Amino acid sequence: MSALFSPLSIGALTLPNRVMISPMCQYSGKGGVAQPWHMAQYGRLAMGGAGLVMVEMTSVSAQGLSTHGDLGLWTDEQEEALARIADLIRSLGAVPGIQLGHAGRKASSQRPWHGGKPLSEIDLTERGETPWRIVAPSAVPITPAHPVPAALSLEEIETIKADFVQSSARAMRAGFDLVELHGAHGYLLNQFVSPLSNLRDDAYGGDLAGRTRLPLEICRAVRDRIGPEKGLFIRLSVSDGVDGGQELEQTIEFARALKTAGVDALDCSSGGIVGAANATRLVRGPGYQVPFARALRETVGIPTIAVGLILDGPQAEAVVQDGSADIVAIARAALDDPNWPHHAREAISGRDYSDWPPQAGWWLQNRAALLDRLAAGE
Ligand SMILES: Cc1cc2nc3c(=O)[nH]c(=O)nc-3n(C[C@H](O)[C@H](O)[C@H](O)COP(=O)(O)O)c2cc1C
Repeated sequence: MSALFSPLSIGALTLPNRVMISPMCQYSGKGGVAQPWHMAQYGRLAMGGAGLVMVEMTSVSAQGLSTHGDLGLWTDEQEEALARIADLIRSLGAVPGIQLGHAGRKASSQRPWHGGKPLSEIDLTERGETPWRIVAPSAVPITPAHPVPAALSLEEIETIKADFVQSSARAMRAGFDLVELHGAHGYLLNQFVSPLSNLRDDAYGGDLAGRTRLPLEICRAVRDRIGPEKGLFIRLSVSDGVDGGQELEQTIEFARALKTAGVDALDCSSGGIVGAANATRLVRGPGYQVPFARALRETVGIPTIAVGLILDGPQAEAVVQDGSADIVAIARAALDDPNWPHHAREAISGRDYSDWPPQAGWWLQNRAALLDRLAAGE
């Protein structure tokens, strides 16, 4: 019996199995609205057999977009397009979730394949993409080569809180079963938590309690708004992985408060505060972030999600089996093979097409039987 492919009750939700498609920005929206590309992408990922499909980071406001291609969830048109995606994912047997975020000082950037740098006049000339004003907890740029963000006023912080709550309400109306807040990879909530980017001396800065105040207030407010029947996850950079940054010990304290604030699960990632998510001193290798998921699960007693270079079924099975995490999130491996969960199950439990959609499974089962007969020389 596979642990990875057994159902999981988490909060009030039940997932058919413990494979999650990790949120992956497609940078392919228009005006924050999902396009046919997104239907194809989320359709093929949901068809692949994951229990939970997390739609990419979706901004709560125009200010919070990281690029002109990000999805947003602050207009009716954006909500309608996302409702079609939630419906599609559910119709294919997976639970639909959506990651909500605000890019903060990482807003107004080029798409990765255009360079990932701050937007400038060149982008305006070449692609008609206008840069916009970026904000952050403090006027601290990502690196000295990056633009200096405007420090948020208390009034602007209130607006951002309200934006998260409103987008969460829209997500529920659109048919998503859970919201994941993006508190990792150097985006706005991570910028508040990290001492490297938050130099405020008011209630939203200073010690750990001050720096974590905004994410905690947002968690409480979102939980209130979505009610107890829906899921609330948060993705964290458990360690910034840079000197003077947030480390596991502080994240454990933060996680205890998140649990009390009504969070159902912690999605345990790392890095990103001083640039790309891979700008850390953490050594990357298969499953390199799994120890973070394990540490938080054990010390805080909260369900966790492990992510990062989890490559095949047996590796993912071991993560759940040995109690490191409750859910395993897969990103690039699913881009490479959208049927990754089906193949993982086969690698763990042997050939069985009963979980495939019959439109494929019935034929594959017949083909397998034929190949068996041929191999036996019949
Ligand atoms: C194309 C792409 C887009 C991504 N976009 C997001 C995102 O929207 N939100 C997020 O939290 N992580 C994002 N990530 C990070 C992944 O969710 C995941 O944490 C990371 O790729 C490591 O997992 P992997 O080794 O299975 O790919 C993205 C990764 C990729 C490859």
